[in-house]
This record gives sequence, structure tokens and C-alpha cells, in this order.
Amino acid sequence: MKHVAILISGTGSNMETLIHAMQGDFPARPCLVISNRIDAGGLAKARLLGVPTHVIPHKNRTREDFDAELAATLTRVAPDITLHAGFMRILSPGFFDAFSGSMLNIHPSLLPKYPGLNTHARAIEAGDSEAGCSVHEVIPDLDAGPLLGQARVPIHANDTPETLARRVQAREHELYPKVLRRYAIGDRTPLMI
Ligand code: GRF
Repeated sequence: MKHVAILISGTGSNMETLIHAMQGDFPARPCLVISNRIDAGGLAKARLLGVPTHVIPHKNRTREDFDAELAATLTRVAPDITLHAGFMRILSPGFFDAFSGSMLNIHPSLLPKYPGLNTHARAIEAGDSEAGCSVHEVIPDLDAGPLLGQARVPIHANDTPETLARRVQAREHELYPKVLRRYAIGDRTPLMI
């Protein structure tokens, strides 16, 4: 059974579906939710679901200082896997000395297209016919780690970034638990759904 920490910054809808998935014969269990924002909506959801939470504020401190506290917290809790789920922080390269190979992220685009922000607006603006989401290993380069899974959706002619984001998010909630289940038993082959 793998122990899983989840990093969030906001609503935590991916976190919620991941926590719901991790029961019964699922080969992983949530051990801690960490947020860099005290006002992250996901914190209350995690507590309601019985998962301990911890806040590490990022304001008024250096990136190195924040990363050191995050690293110390993760070292203390010692999760087997750490999931970024709407965690809006870039980690300094030094962080990866201890934690590379055990961190996953979900990104709302068909990587390698559109790393970074505003993915849906960029896909619509480019005239793409499809969008989607990707789960990948976290490495120091932003949204560039090995791909573990991808889910696709069509882009409709009347889509706005908001309508597309909703369609993609429904697929995020499907993809992330499926990829985690495979990752937890050592399967790193990309899942395309
Ligand atoms: C998701 O769209 C995810 O792909 C991106 O941030 C968003 C987080 O949403 N990285 P939520 O907090 O899981 O609801």
C-alpha cells in the first residue's frame, strides 16, 4: 500500500476525486494534503474526507525558504508518492535532489503543447480541434517530465476558455486516479484515454 501526499493551491476538485478513489482495493491511501494558501477551498474538503491538512504559506518569504519547509514536511511524513493537484508553485531545482521520481502533476493540455498557464485560451486561439489533460512526472523543467497519461476532448466552434476548461476538468477527474492506480503498482506506461 503506497502513502500519498497531495499538494494543492485552490479548489481541490482533483484532490477530492483522488481521495475518493483511494479506498477499497486501490493500492494507495492519502496521508496528507498540503496547501500553500490558507484560503484554498480544498483544505475544508480534505478535512471533511478525514485527511489531515497542513498549510505552508508562500507569501513574504523566498522560494528557497518555502521549498525547504515543504521538503522538511514531506521528509517527516515520508509519502511514497506526492501528487501535485492544482499546486501553483514552481519548485527550485535543489528540491528535486530528494524527491525526484515520486512526484506527479496533472496539467490541462495535451503536453508537450501548452506548458504553463492559460492553456485553454491558447488551444482555442491556435484553432486546435482537440484539447485535453496530461499526467506527468514532475521534473525541474516546467510541465516537461515523462508522460504517464493523457485524456482528449474535442474543441467546439463556440467554446470559450471556460467551457473548454469544464470539459477538460471532467476528464482530469477520470484520468488522474487511473494513472495513480497504475503508478502505485509500478506501471509507468502512458495511459491514453
Ligand atoms: C486543474 O485544471 C489542473 O489541471 C491544473 O489546475 C487545476 C486545478 O483544479 N493544474 P482543482 O484545484 O483540482 O479543482
